Amino acid sequence: MTVVTLGAHIVDVLARPVDALPAGHDTVVVEQVRLAAAGSAAGTAVALARLGNDVVSVGAIGDDDLGDLLTRMMSREGVDVSGLVRRTADQTSASILPIRSDGGRPVLHAPGANRTLTSGAVDPGLLVAADAVHVGGPDVVEGLSDPAFFHTLDTARASGTIVTMDVLSEAPDLLEAASAFLPHVDYFLPNEQQALAMTGASDPVTAARRLRDRGPRAVVVTLGEHGSLLVGPDGVDRLPAHKVDVVDTTGCGDAYCAGFITGLLHGLAVRDAAQWGTAAAALVAADLGSGTGLATLGALKALLP
Ligand SMILES: Nc1ncnc2c1ncn2[C@@H]1O[C@H](COP(=O)(O)OP(=O)(O)OP(=O)(O)O)[C@@H](O)[C@H]1O
Ligand SMILES: [Mg+2]
Repeated sequence: MTVVTLGAHIVDVLARPVDALPAGHDTVVVEQVRLAAAGSAAGTAVALARLGNDVVSVGAIGDDDLGDLLTRMMSREGVDVSGLVRRTADQTSASILPIRSDGGRPVLHAPGANRTLTSGAVDPGLLVAADAVHVGGPDVVEGLSDPAFFHTLDTARASGTIVTMDVLSEAPDLLEAASAFLPHVDYFLPNEQQALAMTGASDPVTAARRLRDRGPRAVVVTLGEHGSLLVGPDGVDRLPAHKVDVVDTTGCGDAYCAGFITGLLHGLAVRDAAQWGTAAAALVAADLGSGTGLATLGALKALLP
């Protein structure tokens, strides 16, 4: 199955455990420092590739060492990076994440080139030919919020492509702009804070219903360790998270999307696809870095209830 991931591409640099930053010039010795291809498009692309999909990733990165590194990491995972455009005026987006012993994750983030992706860089034929398109982080990719791109999504859907979407930020103004995509997607998978911020609702069920009213067939709100909830044509369904010895939950939402999309492409019902998402996320929570713990579709299936 061919999936196009489109949107945010970020290099994550993670260290653990970091329970406090040292004063002055002191050094803290940590157990691990790791790199990961992350962001709602790149992180999901790698997870989708590990689950056996053919993946083409589309986005904007810098013409810099971080960009070389990111394309190399994604290529080694089997992701086709021919849809990435390189910018000279902006750096590749990157984050530094000092992960606490309890899995807590403060982030130092440089937005970089992501925001410069425009609909002109997206080949409409690629989206029409794909089995699924995942729009990852349209809130941080301002240039995609464009009627021409919405038309491209609608054309792809009319040809049978499944369109899914996740958002990246928790900034109310950016998320508000991402609402314009809702009439053009089949499935939307925000986390709880994002769903509440986008709707002004005070609980995730109300938020999911309001988001679904704007167009998607179903909305899945992820609730961290509390699992997820699905609002679709058959009403509300709750899926508990797996019990995990958590190392780092960075990229759990991206892994959830990858598992969910893979399930849909295997012909599963939406709730069963959400179980695949839940299992993929549990594997990622048990290791350091976006996607690291997610090895194969077989490992995901071994976790299914
Ligand atoms: N502590 C945890 N234990 C078990 N599963 C977890 C835990 N945290 C997250 N998950 C799983 O991961 C899914 C997605 O998590 P979360 O809601 O934190 O996504 P997110 O905030 O979008 O993450 P990111 O944007 O970093 O990828 C949850 O629905 C759940 O199934
Ligand atoms: Mg997320």
